[in-house]
Amino acid sequence: MSFSPEWLALREPFDRAAREASSLDLQDLQDQVATAAGAGAGEGAAPYRVLDLGCGTGANLRALAPRLRGRQRWHLVDHDARLLAALPRVMGDWAQTHRLKTPPPESADSLRIEGPDWGVELSWQKADLVQELDTLPFEGSQLVTSSALLDLVSASWLAALLTKVHEANAALLCTLTVDGRIEWQPAMPSDAQMAKLFGAHQHRDKGFGGPALGADAVPRAVERLVALGYRCVQAGSDWQVAAAAGGARMLERMVDGHADAALEQDPGARDLVLTWRLQRLVQMPRSSLQVGHMDLLAMPAGR
Ligand SMILES: C[S@@+](CC[C@H](N)C(=O)[O-])C[C@H]1O[C@@H](n2cnc3c(N)ncnc32)[C@H](O)[C@@H]1O
Repeated sequence: MSFSPEWLALREPFDRAAREASSLDLQDLQDQVATAAGAGAGEGAAPYRVLDLGCGTGANLRALAPRLRGRQRWHLVDHDARLLAALPRVMGDWAQTHRLKTPPPESADSLRIEGPDWGVELSWQKADLVQELDTLPFEGSQLVTSSALLDLVSASWLAALLTKVHEANAALLCTLTVDGRIEWQPAMPSDAQMAKLFGAHQHRDKGFGGPALGADAVPRAVERLVALGYRCVQAGSDWQVAAAAGGARMLERMVDGHADAALEQDPGARDLVLTWRLQRLVQMPRSSLQVGHMDLLAMPAGR
């Protein structure tokens, strides 16, 4: 399944706001970074190793690295060459906007970014998470993470991932996984039928070797992780999109996305879908949308 750089850029501020409003406590991870580093963020300290799956242009790093603090080494993986090609520029723009230092990197396909109390060395790799899962550097990673990925994956791929994470004794942080809640304002009677079609579409195969878990992904992951001895914490990270608060373009995109998915799911619902789309676009200026997401942090036994 492919995602355009434009779509990832459009959603990133809403993802960021959702993460900022989330009550997920990252203290355990911050403690791990500090422990790895020994004496804080100084030169010579061991970096905390992070593996980011389905990285896109690196939004997960931009949201997490400053919150984790200390020295970090991130390895980012995606199968989309176009997103990876955009990654250095997007990272560079972010560093510039936030007045972060960018010391010379070790190689052409790596970057260094430094904030006030944190520093990241990052490298990236083009790899298919399905075909090449076994080749990825789980071993040695202290944190495996993803954002907006888990709802795309199948039950069998999730099981394979969790086995890898467990074998590496790594922590797992999966943010922004849809949980099935969708609330449009002002509400319309056809919203329920649209949500049903959209939810069903989210279970179609997204390239992970079987039906996508969609809203079932986090409960399924928690069940397996607890069986593996992990301590799991969950927190909501909902999108709040309001036309009156700069969200008109995002709302328009969501209306079109829901309509396209619903039509693909049930071409026979064409009248319902097109009427819904038109009504939603007409009332756009006074509309808002809440999309339910969950963040999941799982810590291995003894950490
Ligand atoms: C919804 S995007 C999220 C991107 C990024 N984590 C973010 O938060 O902006 C899902 C990402 O997973 C990647 N992806 C999907 N299927 C993949 C696969 N089979 N192998 C590697 N990456 C994949 C896509 O290319 C895309 O970048």
